[in-house]
Amino acid sequence: MKILITGGAGFIGANFVHYWLRKNPQDEIVNLDTLTYAGNLENLKSIENNKKHRFIKGNICDTPFINDLFKKENFNLVVHFAAESHVDRSVLDSSDFVKTNVEGTMNLLDAAKNNGGIRFHHVSTDEVFGALSSEDAAFNEKTPYDPRSPYSASKAASDHLVRAYFHTHKLPITISNCSNNYGPFQFPEKLIPLFVTNLVEGKKIPVYGTGENIRDWIHVDDHNRGVEMIIKNGTIGETYCLGGAAERKNIDITKEILSIMGKGEEEIEYVADRKGHDLRYAIDFSKATAELGWKPQIDFEKGITMTVEWYQDNENWWKKIKSGEYQEYYKKQYNK
Ligand code: NAD
Ligand code: DAU
Repeated sequence: MKILITGGAGFIGANFVHYWLRKNPQDEIVNLDTLTYAGNLENLKSIENNKKHRFIKGNICDTPFINDLFKKENFNLVVHFAAESHVDRSVLDSSDFVKTNVEGTMNLLDAAKNNGGIRFHHVSTDEVFGALSSEDAAFNEKTPYDPRSPYSASKAASDHLVRAYFHTHKLPITISNCSNNYGPFQFPEKLIPLFVTNLVEGKKIPVYGTGENIRDWIHVDDHNRGVEMIIKNGTIGETYCLGGAAERKNIDITKEILSIMGKGEEEIEYVADRKGHDLRYAIDFSKATAELGWKPQIDFEKGITMTVEWYQDNENWWKKIKSGEYQEYYKKQYNK
């Protein structure tokens, strides 16, 4: 198979590229990423010389470029991760979220449709379903959409477009809506890598509001195994919810990180809450279990310990991000 992976220099996409090459070494991967602030070729350093992986710098919003790429390459499958992904950034400015997440997705769908109806898996989020109270049942595939941030609104729009191309054009699509991922290579603007790296640097860790908000945490490898199972065995046109069965309050995750790192609660700084901060996300993944035999395998307590250790052992990786040096890597690699 020749697979187009978009956003494969970001957190989940890069982990997916590594995962897929390990599990399916015969397949050929074209990795398309425009290298925004979140894209980092160092995430792909260990496969630099792997002939089955080819990186292309390009923007999914560039319609002529995308059309040419699809005409030239004869892809069998598209796995679409590329997105603006950080809620706080979408609060400050929505425009790149609408461009990449909505228009960029539409360009890929058109290109897949116009080149023979290429199998298309769209990677989405549980945030499209809105926010739960502490008593509500977890989100499932039938939960009505109710996005509440510009980020989740743009992802919801992209999900609707993907389904519309299935109904209107019979494009063979699937969608996954997953909960909060953690693991290696996550950009240190997100809760877990931000807190771990701040603590290593001797900085305070900023908990929004009172830290009562709840997220459902899943290791990135469990998410990517779910995506693989949907691609291989999912029903065309269907959506699958993936979650970690690990609901935690932010304050409890914070205390867990502090305890793993041998630090005390005096490192916490309670700061102003995120605007429109969703209280709780949780996923009911029983459809994925019943139809695909998928469930998360990495226990949260083990996963978070491994992840904290990964950031402690890979200071070189995140220090280059925090200093801005990581963006020099592309220039050196490609002489630009
Ligand atoms: P990320 O921000 O770490 O990576 C996004 C990647 O997309 C980056 O490499 C970036 O350079 C690339 N990109 C952005 N705009 C692009 C464009 N216009 N053209 C080409 N490439 C572009 O994000 P992530 O956390 O890895 O998330 C990946 C996907 O998974 C997103 O679609 C996100 O909505 C979804 N998702 C994320 C989570 C999570 O917890 N992080 C959970 C569920 C779903
Ligand atoms: O639920 C899936 C989503 O999870 C993905 O679709 C998004 O791409 C991903 O970024 C993530 O969104 P969140 O907003 O939940 O993740 P974030 O790491 O930004 O925040 C997690 C929780 O921690 C949230 O309740 C806000 C809080 N927080 C976050 C940061 C960065 C803090 O208290 N302090 C912080 O500094």
